[in-house]
Amino acid sequence: MTKALLGILVTVIAGLGIAGAIAYSGLVDVGADAPHAPVVFDVIEMVRERSIARRLDGIVPPADRDAAARVRLGAGNYEAMCAGCHLRPGERDSELRAGLYPKPPALAMKPKNGKANPARAFWIIKHGLKASGMPAWGKGGMRDADIWSLVGFLDRLPGLSPEAYRSLQAESMGHSHAGSEVRTADHHDNHEHSHDPGR
Ligand code: HEC
Repeated sequence: MTKALLGILVTVIAGLGIAGAIAYSGLVDVGADAPHAPVVFDVIEMVRERSIARRLDGIVPPADRDAAARVRLGAGNYEAMCAGCHLRPGERDSELRAGLYPKPPALAMKPKNGKANPARAFWIIKHGLKASGMPAWGKGGMRDADIWSLVGFLDRLPGLSPEAYRSLQAESMGHSHAGSEVRTADHHDNHEHSHDPGR
């Protein structure tokens, strides 16, 4: 019994030693253009999903999150703050997204497992995801109500045609939410970009 325990202990310590030596050696390529080994990717995904699942208790989507006014507000903020990474309907990639790892999911596509979980989307938008490029928008001062508008818009986004997307933009108030961003008279123009391939 003690021998077996000793064996396990030695194996664990040796394993940690090898992992530490590999980490310290510099052999791990941290470049965003060098994909993780599939097993590493799977472990990171497991850690992410388990972590999020534990944190969803008590997040109750507002009953009116799909209301037209909220969806319009969310549409304008999506275009200003999210589309560069998560794409618009009809877009296949963007300059920013092409080089990101992990790649931001194309949110205009239908989620693989059916409808997205609104509480999960809310949590991710508010808190972001470490070392992935996904910002914690709650830190920028976005209120929960503004985040729910984005979630409401995300419910509508999959399957929206490029034309329907553009007309929702036209009806929206553009980049508009409470928060600590620096607003200037021409803050709409701050998001323009002269060679965005998606337009
Ligand atoms: C700089 C790029 C970037 C921007 C800007 C960005 N995101 Fe993300 N987002 C990511 C990345 C990368 C992931 C995936 C992270 C991962 O797989 O671990 C992600 C994941 C998500 C997810 C989870 C998707 C899923 O089903 O797993 C949601 C929802 C999301 N983002 C919403 C938003 C919203 C809404 C905005 C705008 C307010 C936004 N993101 C802005 C990079 C970005």
